[in-house]
Amino acid sequence: MAAVDNEFQRLLGTADLLPEESARWVTAENTIRATMRRFGFGEIRVPIMEPTPLFDKGTGASTDIVQKEMYTFTDRGNRSITLRPEGTPSVVRAYLEASLSARRPTWKLFYIGPMFRAERPQQGRYRQFHQYGAEMIGPGGPEADIELIALGAASLADLGITDVRLVMNSIGAADSRRAHNAALRDFLKSPAVSQALCEDCKRRTETNPLRVFDCKKEPCAKPVKDAPTIDAFLTPEDRDHFAVVRDGLERLGIPYAVDVRMVRGLDYYTRTTFEFKTDKLGAQDALLGGGRYDGLVELYGGPPTPAVGFAAGIERILAVIAQDEQAGSAAERLDVFVCALGAQAAALTPVILAALRALNISADRDFMGRGLKAQMKEANRLGARRVLIVGDDEIARGQYVLRLMDRSEQTEIPADPKDWTADLFRKAC
Ligand code: HAM
Repeated sequence: MAAVDNEFQRLLGTADLLPEESARWVTAENTIRATMRRFGFGEIRVPIMEPTPLFDKGTGASTDIVQKEMYTFTDRGNRSITLRPEGTPSVVRAYLEASLSARRPTWKLFYIGPMFRAERPQQGRYRQFHQYGAEMIGPGGPEADIELIALGAASLADLGITDVRLVMNSIGAADSRRAHNAALRDFLKSPAVSQALCEDCKRRTETNPLRVFDCKKEPCAKPVKDAPTIDAFLTPEDRDHFAVVRDGLERLGIPYAVDVRMVRGLDYYTRTTFEFKTDKLGAQDALLGGGRYDGLVELYGGPPTPAVGFAAGIERILAVIAQDEQAGSAAERLDVFVCALGAQAAALTPVILAALRALNISADRDFMGRGLKAQMKEANRLGARRVLIVGDDEIARGQYVLRLMDRSEQTEIPADPKDWTADLFRKAC
């Protein structure tokens, strides 16, 4: 029985995060911030509500987001306001409002926060959900695409997600798109095809024919399979751009597949688009999606300014991590448990812990003054990867014993923390 009256219950597709759950979020957010910093991205915080035209125009009038999913209301000043369904339009607006281009030619910005889409809730799909995203505004060359895709891959890997597939496409710049759109429209308007299309796709034929590739409805499956795809229409410049991106990913050892029918659900994309997908969440398989959007800054009244970015769904990522943890693979583990035996060791332990933590190694100890056996049990309970044994003998020899718990092996390390490096401990495992 619900403990709160119906009228007060939380809205469908929203969630409360209780302390155990929110602790997992904080860990994930810290990891995301560390990855972003490593790649030179600075955090931007933008409002959650924006003027509705920002999304109508940017996200795009022909998208499902704008047509069906925005939380839009009129405020007391009779202005149309929308709870942001995505972060990219706000970042571009902020970039223009703060005249960032006057300060330097390239901006690398990231954000973490809630987004709102009135979709039908199901596993992996919520009405208030959270994204982390990164946008690089300024450079138009393929190196920026490579940087963003590498950042996407690194961010997922840092979060502990290894089992993902990168799918890419190039949907070309204006000239390629125009030629492809014309051919696609002709194909979709041919009587045999047009009769078979669903009502949505009949409308899409006029508004944004590319979107028919995204249609999941049965009658559209066959025509879509035979429809002309963008790859045959790319200009030499678009083709070269995509080739350099692919070559860069190959050099970085990032595997990918090209899907010439992949369409992202937003109107602003040009050239490279990409998604990292998982097989663990059923239909909602996209963990991270993005691409180049060379026209958006100009659409908002700025000078022609290319840009590329992505966003990832934090709920989906945490759901995959939770599955992996249940499978016993990626649970949060302690790096080093310090097992102190005797009075001399007890006095040294705080200094040992401080030295390990200063090296960014997670470290803990027993605080109950127990013997070796009980301490080893505690180390196991914490999932410690290594146990550092500090007893009278070890102190006398000037060498501590480091036990590698996964391999049932041990090694010795110098007792003076001044001789320690993070590698000394990491290599040992
Ligand atoms: P998007 O593909 O609409 O792209 O969303 C990115 C990610 O947000 C998805 O891959 C998914 O993981 C997550 N997501 C989307 N909708 C929901 C939902 N209803 N519930 C849970 N998770 C969801 C964008 O938003 C673009 N702004 C990405 C971008 C940035 N492109 C260029 N720069």
